[in-house]
Amino acid sequence: MEYKNLTTKKREGLGFIVVNRPEKLNALNNETIRELRQAFVAFRDDLEVKAIVLTGSGEKAFVAGADISELSKLDSAQGKQYALEGQELTKLIESFKKPVIAAINGYALGGGTEMALACHIRVASENAKMGQPEVKLGLIPGFGGTQRLARLVGKGKAMELILSGKTIDAKEAYEIGLVNCVVPLQELLPRCETMAKEAIANAPLALEFAIESINKGLDKTLEEGLHLEADYFGKACSTEDSKEGTRAFLEKRKANFRGQ
Ligand code: COA
Repeated sequence: MEYKNLTTKKREGLGFIVVNRPEKLNALNNETIRELRQAFVAFRDDLEVKAIVLTGSGEKAFVAGADISELSKLDSAQGKQYALEGQELTKLIESFKKPVIAAINGYALGGGTEMALACHIRVASENAKMGQPEVKLGLIPGFGGTQRLARLVGKGKAMELILSGKTIDAKEAYEIGLVNCVVPLQELLPRCETMAKEAIANAPLALEFAIESINKGLDKTLEEGLHLEADYFGKACSTEDSKEGTRAFLEKRKANFRGQ
């Protein structure tokens, strides 16, 4: 599919989605948000694609936030609708059944950090800068930042970042657990590819169940979450891949997973 503000490609089982508005530091206007949803749905339905790497074009920005020129025109009802549409995108990413890795190659501010938060794994380049600067505009995060940031880095750090609106560098993002690792810019995509391939060497349904169990369990009590995990474990036991994976171990050979 052709997009105006994205490029996508497939290679060796991976789908790459690149936000491509470098002149606006890849800021998310309505059209880009819509295209991102389309691109994720297209890769969701594409059996050749087993994992996604999401990044921004150029060497300066992942996504510098929602497009401020659009934000400036919103009234209350439109603002709520705008947030709900952005949240549709971040929910689509978070609940994606295939691993999604954010390759954070520069500024990830506002909606950029929020989109990265929705990804399953975040890798930052050394020049990455992250933050939720919405309060500086008289706004608050609207694409999930107040919820997912607190769940990922804890309430205290989320409060600090959101109330100050400050931008932090990749090192600090790593130290507070906002990103999984930091690598030099030229190693960013190769590292993300390696991590994605490491994941997709495993059983696809097991990946899907693990993502769902982690995501859904976080909204529950520990006891409820453990029940949920047991349900998914049971589902995993009923797959052909679990029989193949355990048999392959016992027969000292590589498993041949079929996603069944
Ligand atoms: N929305 C719309 N346009 C944006 C944007 C955003 N979130 N972020 C950057 N841009 C545009 C700038 O307006 C500028 O466009 P112009 O050349 O037509 O004037 C272009 O991208 C380059 O940005 P510029 O500010 O000149 O780059 P810089 O290197 O001086 O600063 C940032 C980089 C990221 C610090 C700065 O662009 C910034 O603060 N952006 C807004 C971040 C933000 O508040 N995001 C959250 C929104 S809710």
